[in-house]
Amino acid sequence: MRFLPRLLILATLAIATFLSWRLLLRSPATGREGDLVPKAEEGFTLTLDTFLHLQQLRKKRLRAFCGQSGKVTTLPRSREERAHLLSSLRVSTKLDLLYCQVPSTGTEEWQQLLKKLEEKENVTLPLPYPHQHVPERQLSEFNLTEIEAMLESYTKVLFVRDPFQRLISAFMQGMGSSPSFSSFVQDVLASGQHNASATWKPLVSLCRPCLVQYDYVVVFGFLRQELSHLLRRAGLAADNLLPEFTDSKVRWTYSWLSEQMFSELSLQQKKQLSHFYHWDLSAFPFSSSLLTGLLSTPKTWEK
Ligand SMILES: *[C@@H]1O[C@H](CO)[C@@H](O)[C@H](O)[C@H]1NC(C)=O
Ligand SMILES: *[C@@H]1O[C@H](CO)[C@@H](O)[C@H](O)[C@H]1NC(C)=O
Ligand SMILES: *[C@@H]1O[C@H](CO)[C@@H](O)[C@H](O)[C@H]1NC(C)=O
Repeated sequence: MRFLPRLLILATLAIATFLSWRLLLRSPATGREGDLVPKAEEGFTLTLDTFLHLQQLRKKRLRAFCGQSGKVTTLPRSREERAHLLSSLRVSTKLDLLYCQVPSTGTEEWQQLLKKLEEKENVTLPLPYPHQHVPERQLSEFNLTEIEAMLESYTKVLFVRDPFQRLISAFMQGMGSSPSFSSFVQDVLASGQHNASATWKPLVSLCRPCLVQYDYVVVFGFLRQELSHLLRRAGLAADNLLPEFTDSKVRWTYSWLSEQMFSELSLQQKKQLSHFYHWDLSAFPFSSSLLTGLLSTPKTWEK
């Protein structure tokens, strides 16, 4: 029975995606806080200069966020604590890349791309680490010295997406067992910060952006173009390997869908969600998130 609402949503999604194709006529522009305006058109070309400028803005925002107190900024000495803290961080020792793996942010397609790149590069580097054959690994599997070396020298990439859209995506993929979006949100809120599933846990808790000095913050919506610049700068020619990232296709649909789903929630739920994600909302460029408008007096989460 609960599949019916999802089916309806999916059908509407398909129609809206089709319609939105025809509506993409506005000029692209970059938002003042480092996000690309969601209304930028399909044929929009992101120049290298704009890309680098956006990166500066995003990292500046992140540094300001990390300058506040209460953030994790050092690696724990204990292996267990590290395993917990770094559980979403992945590395490719072949490509010298580190990234944070979060569902629904585009990392699935990114992982496919890395696999292709690794096959293509087929590099046999002089071994700083004796695990070259394994394509992609958890950062926390390595010892402290190795982790420190990787954090220092690897290209580090963070994928981010409006938390409210992550929630919608999780709901539509059938995570949890809730019959409606509103009760799904209720479950999310009930799970609390510490017990949250990686599917909806705040990015700040999953990716530790104050501990890992990410070189690039890429925002869901223009992944193909952003990653093309990023990889070229990392010395990895990937242009003919870049997959069709679906983010640019669902961008419009999600902004429309967000408003529909948002209106299903009570004011209290909306406020609680803003509070739940308030670190993400201040660390990353989500100025157009529906949750942003509800942040009145920021409270601090206890760690
Ligand atoms: C990669 O290198 C290995 C051993 O060096 C070799 O056996 C394999 O065929 C190579 N693969 C490609 C796709 O070049
Ligand atoms: C960390 O791992 C590397 C490679 O396995 C090893 O050479 C090094 O001795 C280890 N360091 C510590 C402190 O265990
Ligand atoms: C965490 O979640 C599990 C399963 O959903 C639940 O059994 C447990 O009580 C929760 N713990 C806390 C501290 O909320």
